[in-house]
Amino acid sequence: MEAIGLWKAATRRLGGAGVAGRWRRDIVAVALVVSAAAVILSFSAPYPVSVWFPPPSAVSFSHRTASSFSSSSSAVAGGDSSFDGSLLPPSNPIPIPPPSLSSFLQYEEPVASASTPPPSSLVAPLSSSDENSDDEEVEDSGGDLKMPPLWRKPGDASHSTDSTATTVPPPVVASPPPISKSDAVEGKSSTGEPKVPPLLPQIPVWLMSPDQQLIYAKREIDHAPLVLDDPDLYAPLFRNVSVFKRSYELMERILKVYIYKDGSRPIFHFPDLKGIYASEGWFMKLMEGNKQFVVKDGKKAHLFYLPYGARQLELTLYRPDSHNINDLLIFLRDYINMISAKYPYWNRTRGTDHFFVACHDWGPYTTKLHDEFKRNTIKALCNADVSEGVFIRGKDVSLPETYIRTPRRPLRDVGGKPVSQRSILAFFAGQMHGRVRPILIQYWRGKDADMRIYEALPHRVAKKMSYIQHMKTSKFCICPMGYEVNSPRIVEAIYYECVPVIIADNFVLPFDEVLDWSAFSVVVAEKDIPNLKDILLKIPLRQYITMQMNVKRLQKHFLWHAKPIKYDIFHMILHSVWFNRLNQIQV
Ligand SMILES: *[C@@H]1O[C@H](CO)[C@@H](O)[C@H](O)[C@H]1NC(C)=O
Ligand SMILES: *[C@@H]1O[C@H](CO)[C@@H](O)[C@H](O)[C@H]1NC(C)=O
Repeated sequence: MEAIGLWKAATRRLGGAGVAGRWRRDIVAVALVVSAAAVILSFSAPYPVSVWFPPPSAVSFSHRTASSFSSSSSAVAGGDSSFDGSLLPPSNPIPIPPPSLSSFLQYEEPVASASTPPPSSLVAPLSSSDENSDDEEVEDSGGDLKMPPLWRKPGDASHSTDSTATTVPPPVVASPPPISKSDAVEGKSSTGEPKVPPLLPQIPVWLMSPDQQLIYAKREIDHAPLVLDDPDLYAPLFRNVSVFKRSYELMERILKVYIYKDGSRPIFHFPDLKGIYASEGWFMKLMEGNKQFVVKDGKKAHLFYLPYGARQLELTLYRPDSHNINDLLIFLRDYINMISAKYPYWNRTRGTDHFFVACHDWGPYTTKLHDEFKRNTIKALCNADVSEGVFIRGKDVSLPETYIRTPRRPLRDVGGKPVSQRSILAFFAGQMHGRVRPILIQYWRGKDADMRIYEALPHRVAKKMSYIQHMKTSKFCICPMGYEVNSPRIVEAIYYECVPVIIADNFVLPFDEVLDWSAFSVVVAEKDIPNLKDILLKIPLRQYITMQMNVKRLQKHFLWHAKPIKYDIFHMILHSVWFNRLNQIQV
């Protein structure tokens, strides 16, 4: 096309010369073709030219407008090497700083002795009434067919309404652990974070080593160009849409994932697509079937996926009523030891670039017998509870719990009524699991016509209007924690376009690293349950309408597709793992 035309013109003009002339002619022609190709590339490439030829010192300034930096410009001007955690306002008085990428550059390991569950793997006894009463109700009230918690700290009366009602728990979205630079740096080297050589000038990104690519991506994200209006991304849903968009682009462009073949079914490579734990199965199925990100050569990978299901682990290895999950822990410990002896990848970073995806409640506990696995590996968990000392905000990923009733049609029933036809103020129906729900029932069941708060949805009510119909017809859907902080109701509310009201102290909300949950949900502290109705009524109608509209716009980020599409839940999960991996990189 254009380049060929130029080449013809060049040869024509130089035609008729001797042997030396023809030599020169060829060289000039090749040079013209190359430069024409570069010009075409720079206009047609979806990424700035700096992606191909990043001058390391200029990268930070290559596509920013002056106004996009006010707070950090002085530090950045000092050069990339000076860019570190010290950029953060160290004594920020705001209690919940937004976890921008840089705010997680360093974090402190929690003090293990204070927050980890007791070392015994004995399990609290199952209460038999929980199991019996679930059967008929599982289809109709969010399906909380769950295992009771494995460990509770002594004195944590998870089944006692009275004692929890009087304790005042910490705020729901816990702020990230304090940043202590020297500790974090020491921690990094002890976890075996590889020493990455500085970027060579003029290296195209695809020629860089995986470690260099991570550093490159991190710098690019820290200096993301401002996104003003993107047709596919609704900015108010995000903490910082510019950062998300740039990070997502770089993931699509750079990220390679290695999947261990080792491990046999059904614990490994056996995705369970149905029920309340379906997130782990869907992710496994879509990841293993993926062509874009998966790479066969581990040397090219940025992330290593451990393809097991926590639910399958329970079904296969847990002896019912044994109240003992030691077999599961030993099994995983041996697996990690096996892959770390067989392949070079684990020891390279001590598991820091490895990840697993577990929706089963036991996910966090199953890492317990292998120290590096427990501390370093990126865990995508439904049970994203920062108070237990296993889930680390900014490193681990809060995985949405999606209750899939019909795997062939994961999007069945998605949608809801317009605001004008949402006649119920607030709705909840479900089992009395955990510490919060009994309090909710105690204060609100049968007390107020606007507050439709039930245990299992009574038959006479369900006959007229199903559980799902209730969600489609309510303004607010109450999502109290169950045995653990997470609940399938949050994503159900999003599917049925009902504004979720989340009651679960210490819960890190799904995709917390990128989403701004205040734009589409209400978070109520456990101690405020008595004021629940007031809290909801105080939200002005206009603000409610905005939130409800935002829930609808958010929906696409929580939908499973048999063939994943851009920005859907599969990509959001993978993105959060990628984003948090970058958080661990020192630039
Ligand atoms: C989003 O991040 C970019 C890049 O770090 C920054 O320039 C911009 O100011 C941030 N925007 C907001 C609204 O915080
Ligand atoms: C990784 O380290 C462990 C113990 O630290 C060792 O047993 C194992 O052989 C190492 N793996 C490789 C591939 O060298």
